[in-house]
Amino acid sequence: MKVVKTISEVRNIINQWKTSGLSIGFVPTMGYLHEGHGSLITQAKENDKVIVSIFLNPIQFAPNEDLSSYPKDLKKDCALCESLGADLLFCPSPSEMYAKDFPTYVDMSGLTENLCGNSRPTHFRGVCTVVTKLFNIVKPDVAYFGQKDAQQLAIIKQMVTDLNMDVQIIGCPIVREDDGLAKSSRNSYLSKEERQSALVLYHALLLARNLIKHGETNLSHIISKMKDYIAADPLTSIDYVDAVNALTMQNTHTIDSNTLFAIAVYIGKTRLIDNLLISEMEELS
Ligand code: PAF
Repeated sequence: MKVVKTISEVRNIINQWKTSGLSIGFVPTMGYLHEGHGSLITQAKENDKVIVSIFLNPIQFAPNEDLSSYPKDLKKDCALCESLGADLLFCPSPSEMYAKDFPTYVDMSGLTENLCGNSRPTHFRGVCTVVTKLFNIVKPDVAYFGQKDAQQLAIIKQMVTDLNMDVQIIGCPIVREDDGLAKSSRNSYLSKEERQSALVLYHALLLARNLIKHGETNLSHIISKMKDYIAADPLTSIDYVDAVNALTMQNTHTIDSNTLFAIAVYIGKTRLIDNLLISEMEELS
């Protein structure tokens, strides 16, 4: 596996692959990789070549967020990518990606405004901008994103459609720890007690599933029970617990296969997200 830091190096390699007619699968990440990222890389192996990018994108973090403390372990990340059969790792520096006072952004209304967009108003502009830049550099045939960031996935699919980007977007299932906690690089921030409390996200989703299975049809009742359950843990502070339509990310009062329960909760200072799509609720153990 080759590790490169510059856009021109990536372009040289990609051009050779494209000339040889090889298909390219792309997994964009911010590093500190875990089994969730691993599942994306494994799925991307359905292409002839797999590129992983590791770039901690400064413009998707607000000044009060965790950019400076975000965990890093490039050596371990390289070893994981190599062991899973990635062909190229692209790890640009911030200055390679953004010129000083970079004035161009890709932005979207609607889908970006609810849920995480409410509490992180500049976040998705940063995500759309960097993903567009990465797509322009890597020119993938297929790109892979985790369903844990369900809103990000919906936004990227919309952006690709709206801007006629020639790439297929594949969403991959959430990967969980044995006890149900969704894998996240930010789990590494949690103390032992917080790690235990963090299970409230998963348990609140199980609660929603069980209520529906027992015939509850009122989403407001379900949401309010989920919130009570989470709030009962003293280490938690709720950002949002909502039921939305998975395609529009707008709040819904209807239970159907597109209903998505989406949660963001602070466990101490760590903000974690998780979600459950009704059509996949049987897959939760
Ligand atoms: O999901 C992430 O890790 C990031 O938001 C992404 C898509 C790599 C863009 O920086």
